Amino acid sequence: MKKLIIANLKMNTTPSEFKNYAMTIATKAKGSKNSIIVCPPYTHLGVAQEFLSSSKVAYGAQNMSAEESGSFTGEVSAKMVKDLGAEYVIVGHSDVRNKFKETDKTINKKIKTALANGLKVILCVGESLQTRESKQTQNFIRKQIDDDLKGIYENELESVIIAYEPVWAISTNKSSANKGITNKDISKMVEVIRKEIEIQFSTKASKKITVVYGGSVGLNNYKKILSNESIDGVLIGATSLDVDAFSVIARENY
Ligand code: PGA
Repeated sequence: MKKLIIANLKMNTTPSEFKNYAMTIATKAKGSKNSIIVCPPYTHLGVAQEFLSSSKVAYGAQNMSAEESGSFTGEVSAKMVKDLGAEYVIVGHSDVRNKFKETDKTINKKIKTALANGLKVILCVGESLQTRESKQTQNFIRKQIDDDLKGIYENELESVIIAYEPVWAISTNKSSANKGITNKDISKMVEVIRKEIEIQFSTKASKKITVVYGGSVGLNNYKKILSNESIDGVLIGATSLDVDAFSVIARENY
């Protein structure tokens, strides 16, 4: 089955280092049945344009401003990333939600701005450990979906991918914490997400929406996670920094 394999490089690598990365993934992706998306830092998008635009690897930004243009020093607009050939943008990543206090209201505005500028959105949702331990996960995720997708038209959901990324399971590859995430947990939450899309939009939309899982996907567990038929793919952080490891996951037949 064809899967969606997404790399989030976060704030790692320089544009020069990324050149080699882009060339390697472009070559290794040839013949892969999967859809592959690489999201490097903004400064690398020109390199992505040069080395990925004629490959089967799509690319996107890791964030963008909710504003169209103007006095927003240091910010990067949807138009700017689109102009560099980016097809996607990650919105609502937990790094941004938690470290930069991004609200659902801002995320909602960013999604609208992205869609209006022809970008596809990778919307991240996910609960903290505290929310999980207080057994509020389902309500929390439902509310994130409702708030983030408020006012979005059903036909626009074709350009939205939902990434379920439990905050407690992110970046735990090297610790024992990721033993906590099971395919049963993932399937349950994907069901909750689809149900909420059904309530807010329609049954058709809930069946069609693309949902991926993210949180410590690595060489040790990708086969098991991607054998889960409830998800359409994975969003990979730390492991995607190693282009060879990422390529292995991107090339596999699922
Ligand atoms: P991870 O990151 O794969 O390193 O857990 C995933 C993410 O933060 O998107």
